[in-house]
Amino acid sequence: MGSGIAQVAAQAGYEVVLRDVTDEALARGTDGIKASYDRFVAKGALEAADAAAALARISTTTDLEAVADADLVVEAVFEKIEVKQDIFRTLDRITGPGTVLASNTSAIPITKIAAATEHPERVVGTHFFSPVPMMRLCELVRGYKTSDDTLARAREFAESVGKTCVVVNRDVAGFVTTRLISALVVEAVKLYESGVASAEDIDTACKLGFGHAMGPLATTDLTGVDILLHATGNIYAESQDEKFAPPEIMRRMVDAGDLGRKSGQGFYPY
Ligand SMILES: NC(=O)c1ccc[n+]([C@@H]2O[C@H](COP(=O)([O-])OP(=O)(O)OC[C@H]3O[C@@H](n4cnc5c(N)ncnc54)[C@H](O)[C@@H]3O)[C@@H](O)[C@H]2O)c1
Repeated sequence: MGSGIAQVAAQAGYEVVLRDVTDEALARGTDGIKASYDRFVAKGALEAADAAAALARISTTTDLEAVADADLVVEAVFEKIEVKQDIFRTLDRITGPGTVLASNTSAIPITKIAAATEHPERVVGTHFFSPVPMMRLCELVRGYKTSDDTLARAREFAESVGKTCVVVNRDVAGFVTTRLISALVVEAVKLYESGVASAEDIDTACKLGFGHAMGPLATTDLTGVDILLHATGNIYAESQDEKFAPPEIMRRMVDAGDLGRKSGQGFYPY
């Protein structure tokens, strides 16, 4: 996600510093960006010279201090609150008061991340979608203390890289999008688990009945059964709302290693 956000920002003309913890991870990121630009060029959607110029606007580093002068920082590390809080604590210390500090978290309350800083008013959620260059949505999340100015600047950035924003006014677990997909996935898995319908029929119902591009069980396989188990489990833990309680079969699938596409087996074989 981090490299995808760097890619669209560089293409929009921003000077970008891409930071990861190892050179190997950075190389994976920049290789992905280059391959993606190449595909856009091959399709005629991007001039080769513009792709080269965008690539040249991205510098890489393992040193977090290198982002000290940034106007806006988007964090996209693992979905672990301790790791994110640690990074925001450092960002709060090394950046100036005018820097917007954004998180790409899918489900962790922004208020909890912001609480690690002395300036929670400049922390905001900018939840992009995968693959970032293709997906047009950015969900902006207002933490308990996020200022109007911070939200406006996050919106300006997201729109400048071609995204349409939706605003989450109250920092509920899972925001709007992860809550919606979690509720759908949990119900789809329950219907499957209890034998009400086959995986294929549940997905076909959503595709042909509601015009979804992909059914919820195929989506779960694509995203990872473990990832959605974690996401729904977090929302359930925060909200205590039964509709987000992860069905047992998701835990057993994860125990058994059936994680979806990445393991070769989920609700479907691959
Ligand atoms: N994958 C998706 O579809 C998706 C969609 C929307 C939001 N998100 C969110 O985006 C974030 C990243 O997800 P991802 O799928 O790209 O994860 P990922 O595991 O693919 O990438 C995480 C990257 O963070 C790096 N990292 C770990 N610790 C770091 C640190 N201290 N400083 C800098 N880099 C560090 C890792 O080396 C890795 O390259 C998560 O919060 C996730 O919930 C993911």
